[in-house]
Amino acid sequence: AAMAFGAASADDYPSKPITMIIPFSAGGPTDTVGRLIAQPMSTYLKQQVVIENVGGAGGTLAAGRVARSAPDGYTIFLHHIGHSTAPSLYRKLPYDAINDFEPIGLVTSVPMTIVARKDFPAKDIKELIAYVKANKDKVTYANAGLGSASHLCGMLFMTAIQTDLTTVPYKGTGPAMNDLLGGQVDFMCDQTTNTTSQIKGGKIRAYAVTTRNRVASLPDLPTLHESGLPGFEVTVWHGIYAPKGTPKPVIDKLTKALAFSLKDETVKQRFGDLGTEPVDPSQVTPAALRSLLRSEIDKWSPIIKKAGVYAD
Ligand code: MLT
Repeated sequence: AAMAFGAASADDYPSKPITMIIPFSAGGPTDTVGRLIAQPMSTYLKQQVVIENVGGAGGTLAAGRVARSAPDGYTIFLHHIGHSTAPSLYRKLPYDAINDFEPIGLVTSVPMTIVARKDFPAKDIKELIAYVKANKDKVTYANAGLGSASHLCGMLFMTAIQTDLTTVPYKGTGPAMNDLLGGQVDFMCDQTTNTTSQIKGGKIRAYAVTTRNRVASLPDLPTLHESGLPGFEVTVWHGIYAPKGTPKPVIDKLTKALAFSLKDETVKQRFGDLGTEPVDPSQVTPAALRSLLRSEIDKWSPIIKKAGVYAD
């Protein structure tokens, strides 16, 4: 396909709407980031960037689909840290996380929060840990499937407190949040993109953040690191990819559109409200994403092996 795509057609790109695949449900944190940046990207590209949610198997269903899509610039993929953990979590994946994708650029960096249903009987993180350990057969933990950020955080949390819990998997933390609000599930670890307004509205309880430092938009929440789980740290990062073989002039244009969107005032303000931070402009490059993806695969692989969590 790359050969059929000459310089002349790259000049005309894009001549029709572009689909941005989101590997989780609508209404969740990845979807929120995607919908926010899609608007200024559409302005820059003078074509609509249309969101398509392809949830399932912790984001790997969507990744497989993107890997098999035509490398023509009309399918792009927003994914997060899960693109780096899936290769260690799944014994077999229908794609190669590095070699089947063309990186476009890094997008944001997002803290996570430990949150519970509103009437959960623990008033702070120390009580939550004690309660969870004492009630491990009845406490339920929501996540978005093996390979999701909420799965990674939960895995690290359970390892840190040496307690196995019943997990309830969803196709994204959007629907998981609905069940948390409804009290059908007890707690989860989810990105501030999805939890901030529910925390501020008093609809759920919040206990701690997963970043090394406290989060400016949720200053009262302690870090897990300072709450008796030293060294606990997970920060979600997002990147945008295209299928391998997408022509370089097309990638360049998409990188520019992404950079443009991260400078947009509305995007910056909404990101700020949601505790998510656009990456430094110097990181909005294919090279920065390629390098972070590789280093994150290397970082998480031994941790996941040690935890002994696998899917077939
Ligand atoms: C989502 O968009 O639903 C989340 O990013 C899922 C997750 O990774 O926890």
